[in-house]
Amino acid sequence: MIEYLAETGSTNTDLADRLVSGTHVPEGAWLVADRQVSGRGRHGREWFDGAGNFMGSTVVHLASSDPPAPTLALLAGLALYEVCANLVPDPAALSLKWPNDLLIGRAKLAGILLERQGQSVIVGIGVNLAAAPPIEGRETISLAKLGPAPDRNRFAELLQHQFAIELERWRSFGLDPALKRWQIAAHTIGTALTVRDDGARAIGGTFDGLAEDGSLLLRLADGTIRAIHAGDVMLG
Ligand code: BTN
Repeated sequence: MIEYLAETGSTNTDLADRLVSGTHVPEGAWLVADRQVSGRGRHGREWFDGAGNFMGSTVVHLASSDPPAPTLALLAGLALYEVCANLVPDPAALSLKWPNDLLIGRAKLAGILLERQGQSVIVGIGVNLAAAPPIEGRETISLAKLGPAPDRNRFAELLQHQFAIELERWRSFGLDPALKRWQIAAHTIGTALTVRDDGARAIGGTFDGLAEDGSLLLRLADGTIRAIHAGDVMLG
C-alpha cells in the first residue's frame, strides 16, 4: 500500500489527477517520491526535495459523520508528531505549530499540505529527514542534524501506520480528544505569535489554545481573543 516513485512533479498533484480521472485511491494507500520537481508547500510556496527526505501523500474520503475536514490538518500533525517523537534524542524539543507544522525548537522539520478534491482530501507531508533547505527569514532543521537520518522507507511505514491510527480515532471518538492531544504537543499557551491572514496583514498576539472547531485562538494585546481560521503563523 506504499507506492514509491523515483521522481515526480508532486505526489499531491499525482493523487489529485488520479481522483479526477476516476481512479479509485483507497484510504491507507500512500504515494512516496524520492524527488519532486514541482513540490508544493502551503501559501503557494515551493517545497524543497532534498535527497533522502520524506515526501508523500495519502487520501481521506470524507464521510458525512466525520469531524470537519480542515481538522485533518491537526490529525496529520499529530501522526507526524508521534512518529518523530521516537526518532529524536529529546522529544520535549518537538512541537506543533498551528495548523500543522512540526518544529524542533523554533526550526521547521516538517510541513503538511491539505488539498480538497470533491469529497476527498489529499494529505501531503514533507519531512526533512536528511537535509533542510536554507530559507531566508525562517529556521529549518533536518533529523540528520540530531543523529543518523532515519531510513526513508521505514519512516514511510511508520507514518502510514500512525496516520491510520489517528484517522480511526478521529472517526470513532471525534475531534475533542485530538484537540486536547494537539494542544499538549504544541508550544505553550502564552507563546508570542504573528499571524498573516490571506490579505497578508500581520496580527500579533499570544497563543491561547484551540477553539472547539480547531481554529487558532490568538489573544490580542487588549486581551480580546480572536479565532483564526486560516493564515500563516510565525513564532514571535
Ligand atoms: C508546507 O509546510 O508548506 C507544506 C509542505 C508539504 C510538502 C509535501 S511533500 C509531499 C506533498 N507533495 C507536495 O507537492 N507537497 C506535499
